[in-house]
Amino acid sequence: DKGEYRHYMLKEIYEQPKVLRNTLQGRISKTQVLEEAFGAEAKAIFDQVESVQIVACGTSYHSGLVAKYWMEDWAGIPCYVEVASEFRYRKVVVPKNSLFVTISQSGETADTLAALRSAKEAGYLASLTICNVANSSLARESDLSFMTLAGPEIGVASTKAFTTQLVALQLLSIALGRRHNLSSDKEQALVSALHQLPQLCEDVLALDDTILHTSEAFSEKHHSLFLGRGVQYPVAMEGALKLKEISYIHAEAYPAGELKHGPLALVDSDMPIVAVAPNDDLLEKLKSNLQEVQARGGKLFVFADKNSGFVNDESTVVINLPHVDDSIAPLVYTLPLQLLSYHVAVLKGTDVDQPRNLAKSVTVE
Ligand code: F6R
Repeated sequence: DKGEYRHYMLKEIYEQPKVLRNTLQGRISKTQVLEEAFGAEAKAIFDQVESVQIVACGTSYHSGLVAKYWMEDWAGIPCYVEVASEFRYRKVVVPKNSLFVTISQSGETADTLAALRSAKEAGYLASLTICNVANSSLARESDLSFMTLAGPEIGVASTKAFTTQLVALQLLSIALGRRHNLSSDKEQALVSALHQLPQLCEDVLALDDTILHTSEAFSEKHHSLFLGRGVQYPVAMEGALKLKEISYIHAEAYPAGELKHGPLALVDSDMPIVAVAPNDDLLEKLKSNLQEVQARGGKLFVFADKNSGFVNDESTVVINLPHVDDSIAPLVYTLPLQLLSYHVAVLKGTDVDQPRNLAKSVTVE
């Protein structure tokens, strides 16, 4: 039931504060991750893990790409991420004591399931799925599972499944990190940021009118570029995927530092450029990349920390977000990008919940 909402997608975007709370409930204490959430056998397995291989498709793959930054930064262990349709057909060299992780909303994606089955033969330490459907094939066939509690996702474009996956991946990075580089002070700081996350998502959803207004600049366009750096690069990829799948506008994500290696040639006044710009270590680097875009007449739409120092002018629209801890910024910055693609699609009159040529659950290759 869509309730007061015009589309399931919008309802599911707005459910995020609530479902993020649900996914965290009972999985963290005030200061710590409660790792029993990964299953009774998790502890003995986690004690042995020395690296992680993540495999998924589409939006779930993007959550894996974000997690790589956390796993390597916080836990200090190598993390590899690959789309399932490539992983399953490749000769893989399996490192010693490597945990095989699948991520999936449905738990039924054919390529992801086939990758899990091939991983069992390949010699991974154990398998874990981060999944939204309890009785799914991935949940049944994995050694460990962690359920995201996003509730049923009806809109074909994945929204709340993605952000709850990110929460799950933070908990996993912390649980593994404890056994490696992560101090209990750092764990406490990360958990405390997670406690603030649902409210910050509420605050960002309150920007909906501003984003609706911004979406008008996109509805007549045919191409767009999404830029981010570091952990925000996969967030930009997810923003671009959302826009292309429901509005049918070609959207491509680039790590901003790669602009001058090719895509800058595409930039002109007809190309909207979305930038994800929290106030992090890479902000100054991103700013100089964006100046190169402006110099070519590109129109910028910057989702920025209110302290990032961007100003509105003829070439730049700034959407200011609250200041958030670096650790949760990828989650918080995802929401306005979801809203942007939603509003563009509504303006274009596409079938938002059932985009052409796509199925919710891809159970065939
Ligand atoms: C995009 C989208 C798809 C899915 C992908 C994987 O909005 O929904 O890219 O993320 O088909 O599906 P799951 O997560 O069910 O394995």
